[in-house]
Amino acid sequence: MKVLGIVCSPRRGGNTEILMKEALQAAREAGAETRLFCLADREITPCDACGSCERTGICIVEDDMQELYRELEAADGIIFGTPVYFTNVSAQAKAVIDRTFAFLSSRKLRGKVAAALVTARRIGAGQVLSLLYTFFTVHRMVTAGGAIGYGREKGEVVDGPGGFLSAMEEARALGRSLARMVDRITPSA
Ligand SMILES: Cc1cc2nc3c(=O)[nH]c(=O)nc-3n(C[C@H](O)[C@H](O)[C@H](O)COP(=O)(O)O)c2cc1C
Repeated sequence: MKVLGIVCSPRRGGNTEILMKEALQAAREAGAETRLFCLADREITPCDACGSCERTGICIVEDDMQELYRELEAADGIIFGTPVYFTNVSAQAKAVIDRTFAFLSSRKLRGKVAAALVTARRIGAGQVLSLLYTFFTVHRMVTAGGAIGYGREKGEVVDGPGGFLSAMEEARALGRSLARMVDRITPSA
């Protein structure tokens, strides 16, 4: 069982990455092999609407999205993590979301289990979770839910609130339930 964590923050070691590592650790304890893909280290440009993928199912833009396409295809479970930027996903997250258009007609993500991890200082996390659930649904992915952590500076999320549980506990619960869902849906994965 392969679980991929995508961190769409432009800053390395930030709150989204901290929660993602916690979620992936829990997924590993539930039997998953995990991969972490941080966009802060990568160059992924926005979709340029060239239309090529609509004809061929293949995106011709040569940047780090090509590696992420391979990781997405190989994954059984995907945790999509983004900070809230102006009550929306980060620009990095939006670029990835739009570039997955190349997978739509071939339904390459159909049946995979997806979860959302959102960090915020104050407002907008709920609506970003909803946006991500819609993104998952458009790809016919199965949603394992989401977790929210609050904090502004790097590391603040560790002591900040989550939901019913602390943010770190919410992230752990998310990673664990995603792995369990993959196991139920595709026990051979
Ligand atoms: C440009 C920008 C816009 C932001 N907009 C919001 C916002 O609308 N709502 C909010 O609660 N936090 C907002 N934040 C705060 C981040 O969501 C918060 O600091 C988050 O923990 C950052 O995650 P990271 O450490 O993984 O980068 C914004 C931060 C930046 C830099």
